[in-house]
Amino acid sequence: MSSSSFQLVFIFCFSILLLLIMPTSMQTVSAATTNKASAKTYKKFIKSACNSTTYPKVCYKALSPSASAIKTDTNKLCNIALSFTLNATYNASSSIDSLSKMKGLSPSEKEIIHDCAETTGEAIDELAKSLKTLANLQGSDHKADEINDLKTWVSAVLTDEYTCTDEFDGQKVSKAVKNTINKSVLYLAQLTSNCLALFRLLDY
Ligand SMILES: *[C@@H]1O[C@H](CO)[C@@H](O)[C@H](O)[C@H]1NC(C)=O
Ligand SMILES: *[C@@H]1O[C@H](CO)[C@@H](O)[C@H](O)[C@H]1NC(C)=O
Ligand SMILES: *[C@@H]1O[C@H](CO)[C@@H](O)[C@H](O)[C@H]1NC(C)=O
Ligand SMILES: *[C@@H]1O[C@H](CO)[C@@H](O)[C@H](O)[C@H]1NC(C)=O
Repeated sequence: MSSSSFQLVFIFCFSILLLLIMPTSMQTVSAATTNKASAKTYKKFIKSACNSTTYPKVCYKALSPSASAIKTDTNKLCNIALSFTLNATYNASSSIDSLSKMKGLSPSEKEIIHDCAETTGEAIDELAKSLKTLANLQGSDHKADEINDLKTWVSAVLTDEYTCTDEFDGQKVSKAVKNTINKSVLYLAQLTSNCLALFRLLDY
């Protein structure tokens, strides 16, 4: 084979190779661009939904890590907001539980901790029930009624959360007890209030 015909064969093979590689590499590039664009769309969706809540920053921080699961689905958004709130309530319940094991608690502290443990337990039940209802909403024939139930239950949770900290009034309670309960309950109340605002975006 002469060197020029060798060159021709080489160029030919190289071109075929390029033709084979190009479409897949272009697909990869365009898929990456699409992913980036949709990630941006999903975060924007959450930001704008959270904008309708009383605590938009708390809302965005809780939901943005789940952007790829929420996409632009309002039902999923509410579902994850509720699930996050339930998880935070489990956490609060466990810190209140640790608190109850502290030594040297006064009778009134014991009573407050006991009551807070009770309201947190009730909140877990109500939130779990709400999450189940929301998950089954899509196939339901009574969506409007069920959304009303959902709002009622979650409002009750919000009220309960505050009754626990209301007990501090006029009682001698140590800073440690007060701060632990205040911090976790306040956070829960913010998450719960945000869920209620997000439910208003459900259109049925
Ligand atoms: C949030 O709400 C404010 C006032 O209602 C509005 O000006 C702003 O554009 C909204 N931001 C987003 C991201 O929707
Ligand atoms: C809540 O906790 C469960 C179990 O740990 C986890 O699978 C789920 O992803 C959490 N939900 C959110 C919204 O973080
Ligand atoms: C619950 O506590 C765990 C461990 O401290 C933490 O990683 C998680 O983010 C908390 N979840 C919520 C919803 O606050
Ligand atoms: C709980 O914390 C909030 C905000 O940090 C504060 O305004 C409130 O007085 C605190 N309540 C108690 C009982 O410490």
